[in-house]
Amino acid sequence: TQGAFELTYASMYQPPQELHDAFESALKTFAADGAQEHPLWIAGKPVHTEERLDKRSPADLDTTIGRFSVASLRDADAAMAAATGAARSWGLTPWRERVAIIRRAQQRIQARMYEIAVAVSREVGKNRVEALAEVAEVVDFCKIYCAQMEAHEGFDRVLPSDPVPGMHLTNRSVMRPYGVWVVIAPFNYPFALAAGPSLAALVAGNAVVLKGSLATPWSGVLLAECLHEAGVPAGVFNNIVGDGPGIGAALVTDDRTGGVTFTGSHAVGRGILAHQASRFIPRPCITEMGGKNSAIVLPGADLDAAAKGVARSAFGMGGQKCSALSRVFVHEDIADDLIGRVAEFVKTLVIGDPLERGTFAGPLATENGYRNFGRYCEQLAGSARIVMGGHKPDMPRRGQYVANTLAEADASHPLWSQELFCPILLVGRVKSRDEAMQRANAVPYGLTAGFFGAEEDIPWFMDNIEAGVTFANRSLGATTGAWPGYQPFGGWKASGNTGKGLASFYYLPQYMREQSRTIA
Ligand code: SER
Repeated sequence: TQGAFELTYASMYQPPQELHDAFESALKTFAADGAQEHPLWIAGKPVHTEERLDKRSPADLDTTIGRFSVASLRDADAAMAAATGAARSWGLTPWRERVAIIRRAQQRIQARMYEIAVAVSREVGKNRVEALAEVAEVVDFCKIYCAQMEAHEGFDRVLPSDPVPGMHLTNRSVMRPYGVWVVIAPFNYPFALAAGPSLAALVAGNAVVLKGSLATPWSGVLLAECLHEAGVPAGVFNNIVGDGPGIGAALVTDDRTGGVTFTGSHAVGRGILAHQASRFIPRPCITEMGGKNSAIVLPGADLDAAAKGVARSAFGMGGQKCSALSRVFVHEDIADDLIGRVAEFVKTLVIGDPLERGTFAGPLATENGYRNFGRYCEQLAGSARIVMGGHKPDMPRRGQYVANTLAEADASHPLWSQELFCPILLVGRVKSRDEAMQRANAVPYGLTAGFFGAEEDIPWFMDNIEAGVTFANRSLGATTGAWPGYQPFGGWKASGNTGKGLASFYYLPQYMREQSRTIA
């Protein structure tokens, strides 16, 4: 029954029975085979390397979910050489042909949607609905980029002839690719944040070298398969995984690289930007670098909606989203009420095996994140009032499970400004809306922000909050759950250097450079 049920944006919020049936059937068809070997993809071919990673399930550290080839510096060089060799002819391929290929890729991803979601859920530990949403999101990336190319006729424009007497000049503006685009993807959305930038780069005519995270090596392999099944020519899309400081750094500093999209930590993103700025030949670099997102809750808010929105955004996928909510500023008159409702709602959220129906949050994806959560909890124990959570729960399996944690802390607490990437939500009581705004904006990051309150305060909130993605009175998620085509997703300030949201109207042109063509 795989593919029998067509996934839509709406089905993510109220998953119907058919979705569960299709997912469960895929779980049986694609049973975990820890011995299966997964290659890199270089120059149109699967490549098995000497170094292999036995990837353990974050939900059960005693289980291996597959053996993955790991790239050496030589493999990275081979991927770069393959992309360089393929870039020119792909860039000169008529844009309609590129669109046709990406449309076929969309069909392949759609046809394999449940299989991919099972892999995503297994490797990163997110629940089945979030895993399916991630794949559905990629289908929408394909649709949007193709539609944008068509709407703008391939970004090719005929311009007026200049008024030179006795001479007819034809003028055109043509948008052309940069060549090889390096995409560095994070672990938390291993399929969507690998595919989102890669598909934009490809449809724009660039060849791509994708480097995914070693924590989640599977998604990129599946993306490479779908793209090659769709007829992407050899060398146009290459997928490798390897360690960031070695392989990632080699790719972003390579002279053959024409542009870079990085999604990940602020420290690494800033290093990449510094390198690009120091180059003799500058090149575009799109960095999406995390958040410390806030919500403001004021009198006049529907507190039930606020509690749900806040909890879903703080604890969905264990807080491992750059869009996750980690700070809530609530007016003192309604603070106890809100805290009580959040705590009540959070008790209903099931933590457990991500593949099980009904699980809200699985384990944390990485050992590092799991260790950090413990450290932050110790730090909070002595310096904040822990309302709930603050520990690692006992679970039937040895996985990286953590408890949803809500704590009240003084304004001076260091965790107010640090990105945590785990399910810890700090609450701060404020005396006025201006105090809430001042504190919300008092961090370097500016990715997402939420508001709950009276309708007449919404323009004030959106005009003054320093964030690229804003939501008001949304119980589905105070700061999370942006969807391509509906909510462009990009950060301000330390969260992102271009301020143009993923899949927005302004996103795709960043992967092209203009050439003016005048012929007398
Ligand atoms: N689209 C996701 C969200 O908004 C990205 O983190 O939550």
